[in-house]
Amino acid sequence: MSNIGSLEKRIKNFDWSISEKELDYKDGNTINIAWYCSDRICQMGKADKLALIYEGFGGVEKEYTFNDIRLAGNTIGAFLRNLGIVQEDRVCLFMDRIPELYLSFLGVLKIGAIVQPLFSAFGEESLYVRLENAQTRAIITQRKHLSKVRKIIDKLPSLEHIIIVDHKESKSLEKNEVPFNLEDATPIEDFEIFPTKANSPSVLHYTSGTTGQPKGVRHVHYSLISQYLTTKWILDLQDNDIYWCTADPGWVTGTSYGIIGPWSLGITQCVLNSGFSAAAWYKFIEKQKITVWYSAPTAIRSLMKAGDEIVGKFDLSCLRHLASVGEPLNAEAVVWSEKVFNKQFLDTYWQTETGSIMITNFPGMKIKPGSMGKAFPGIEAALLDPKTFEPFTEHGKIGLIAFKPGWPAMMTTYWNNNEKFEEKFKNGWYLSGDRSSIDNDGYFWFTGRDDDVINTGGHLVSPFEVESALLEHEAVSESAVVAKPDEVNMEVVKAFITLKPGYEPGDELELKIMNFIRKKLSPLAMPQDIEYMDSLPKTRSGKIMRRILHAKEWGEEIGDVSTLDNE
Ligand code: WTA
Repeated sequence: MSNIGSLEKRIKNFDWSISEKELDYKDGNTINIAWYCSDRICQMGKADKLALIYEGFGGVEKEYTFNDIRLAGNTIGAFLRNLGIVQEDRVCLFMDRIPELYLSFLGVLKIGAIVQPLFSAFGEESLYVRLENAQTRAIITQRKHLSKVRKIIDKLPSLEHIIIVDHKESKSLEKNEVPFNLEDATPIEDFEIFPTKANSPSVLHYTSGTTGQPKGVRHVHYSLISQYLTTKWILDLQDNDIYWCTADPGWVTGTSYGIIGPWSLGITQCVLNSGFSAAAWYKFIEKQKITVWYSAPTAIRSLMKAGDEIVGKFDLSCLRHLASVGEPLNAEAVVWSEKVFNKQFLDTYWQTETGSIMITNFPGMKIKPGSMGKAFPGIEAALLDPKTFEPFTEHGKIGLIAFKPGWPAMMTTYWNNNEKFEEKFKNGWYLSGDRSSIDNDGYFWFTGRDDDVINTGGHLVSPFEVESALLEHEAVSESAVVAKPDEVNMEVVKAFITLKPGYEPGDELELKIMNFIRKKLSPLAMPQDIEYMDSLPKTRSGKIMRRILHAKEWGEEIGDVSTLDNE
């Protein structure tokens, strides 16, 4: 039996108070996500239940019960408090998917501070702009990432504490660096959790736009109300489930559904901290007896590529429910998963800004492979005309996906950029920046983004950030960055550049530039292809026309080029 019975029935008379009641929350009460994810679960009699099963490189395994994660949250919280970190200070988590990442998430929230998780593969420039923007006070990291922090610390006067979770006595420390080893720390049994309220800030995730620097999406503790219920109903988590969310907590899926959702429901979850391979993933599912698996289309396509034969080498009959997020889930992937796992991946659609799943397929609902499904109960979704921003109901016509504000997990603003936040609303609707059509049965069919942001393997990359970084390379004079189609990642980054006098185009220079971006920004942002140009297409006012380069890559009509200068 699934958690939801007939979902259609539940949609009627839906109210978020269903979630509030289950969580024993009343308007005006204290609400602290970390308390809900650990202390409350212990109080409910599940202190000895496993909360986290961790497997790292080289087969290292660790297990933590709900009591362990409660104590770890207290201990980390107390350590931060002793350093002088207080409520609403920003504390960045910059770690691989090691247990300390998950446990620090709780520790930071327990003292009412704001968690700023950042993807550990970020290079120093990506790290710098996000720490600078948030005026972050402390960063929790590992030795292996320390060199990146050391390179930028002098430009970050607000960053007072660099906490290293795996410090070795033999190594020397530099300015602002402090060691903290959870295994050596005395666990703190009783801890005064900061009494955060519904509107208290909780998580600050950075997301990329077409223009300007990345924006910090500010979430609040009340987001739990959406995250809890969507996890329960869509991911259908039940007491005996073993859950695996493959997303990194540097991105929103890894926190909303890789920490908050499962733990607030008292569910055991698994983390695999090693590189991708189909065999390693299947082995992990078999060994841990994963029942519910939340992943992404790029991973599914990579598994498809590895072939069907390998699937047969493992016993994957434990899998009960599969879901996907982050990019369009193509119909072939759904059909394939049914063939090899005997289960379909259910598509879910949402964004960093929405904080929780908005449009989705539910267990028990008729699945139309290739469609994102329908709006979650309590979510009013519509398609707007791109010119008038008026909702329309015509079937098959493409419009802007928009939501009526007011669901509990909605962002409260962009950090220090309320102007950009306001721009996301038109006629009382929140604009997602994505386009879709809707069919007679109310199913949404994603058609693309409404901006130039590149979605590579489910990760958003800003062309602006890559273009700016390219210009910092000594050989590059001008740059334009667009998405290029890719069989597995759907899109990859492609750069068009012109060179400064004295530089010759060639493969060696291309590799050097690629590496430059990988180190500065991240492997995701690194162009997979660089094309040398004599000049870039520009408007008469000198603006580079990405649209033309994009159309060329996708074999599309170029459209109106009347403002083009150098045809
Ligand atoms: C895209 C990730 C098609 C979309 C949770 C959205 C999707 C952006 C889907 C958000 C889906 C997410 N089908 N596209 N099911 N889910 N997207 O902020 O463009 O990292 O706006 O949040 O990913 O990415 P973000």
